[in-house]
Amino acid sequence: MEKKNIDWSNLSFGYIPTEARYVSNYKNGAWDEGTMTTDATVTISECAGVLQYCQACFEGLKAYTTEQGKTVVFRPDLNAKRMVDSAKRLEMPAFPEDRFLDAIDKVVAANVAYVPPYGSGATLYIRPYMFGSSPVIGVKPAEEYQFRTFVTPVGPYFKGGAKPITIKVSDFDRAAPNGTGHIKAGLNYAMSLHAIVTAHEEGFDENMYLDAATRTNVEETGGANFLFVTKDNTVVTPKSSSILPSITRRSLVYVAEHYLGLKVEERVVPFEEVKEFAECGLCGTAAVISPVGKVVDHGKEICFASGMEKMGPTIQKLYDTLTGIQMGRIEAPEGWIHEIPV
Ligand code: PLP
Ligand code: COI
Repeated sequence: MEKKNIDWSNLSFGYIPTEARYVSNYKNGAWDEGTMTTDATVTISECAGVLQYCQACFEGLKAYTTEQGKTVVFRPDLNAKRMVDSAKRLEMPAFPEDRFLDAIDKVVAANVAYVPPYGSGATLYIRPYMFGSSPVIGVKPAEEYQFRTFVTPVGPYFKGGAKPITIKVSDFDRAAPNGTGHIKAGLNYAMSLHAIVTAHEEGFDENMYLDAATRTNVEETGGANFLFVTKDNTVVTPKSSSILPSITRRSLVYVAEHYLGLKVEERVVPFEEVKEFAECGLCGTAAVISPVGKVVDHGKEICFASGMEKMGPTIQKLYDTLTGIQMGRIEAPEGWIHEIPV
């Protein structure tokens, strides 16, 4: 299929509506069979659960054109599972995993003209989401829900692509110890908006959130997990029950151990230790691995040895291996790459 005439290499991380999306409705205790639609708008009650009490969750994954010209998605089964976990925690009916995977196939296949060509630097971002659509006024779960999936072609999440960014230690908390930080609830992002706008106004690219209970340990950013590299080349990533279990991070841990032969530690990371690390990166579907050059803690600067010009050597190797697997240049572990039937 012929690709759309888009300036792929200059795309930012934004929303470009495409022709087709998937929608399924939950009513009377069951999901309907689902359908593709060209309608990019949603019409719901003024009192819908999502509008009153933020009953919504979402996922994010990407489709790629490989070196061999195939259209593939990366580990969609893990997004399907995580969305079930998110739904359960928010008292929403789970969207079945096999139906989630089928929706991804259908939406990517219907929009294959929007999957950026191999080597363009862009990807097709896939956004499955669901929300309470029926009216609720007392605080309780909705009775009806809608699951949708749309796609949009995207470039790098951070302006400047692979250039190291500067982040600040936030005075705001992202997630409470027994709250919703471990699921992909829209409300986690609503409450981070003031923190990110504040950080941007102060000239920072992102926030480093600390654990809300003690404010001594590193958690994550608003949209990505942390990876650190020690001076003796061990990869360290924070362990916490209030961070999102990033699929990219879990994949990079595997890549570090099995492809690069590196030691990996998933453990509590005291903020005090950050100044000892040689490299730092943010990992996620949108962020891929974005290098961090500097962390600022109330005016005190922590500058990583990797500097502000390029990725550190180990973060670069992790990036090259992961993107090589995603783009079909490096053999993937069993089950990581799902080819879209187009
Ligand atoms: N942490 C947060 C808060 C996120 O929103 C995301 C994005 O999905 C991630 C981490 C990275 O997760 P994943 O690698 O599964 O995209
Ligand atoms: C993703 O990486 O898919 C996310 O959902 C992060 C979001 C901040 C864009």
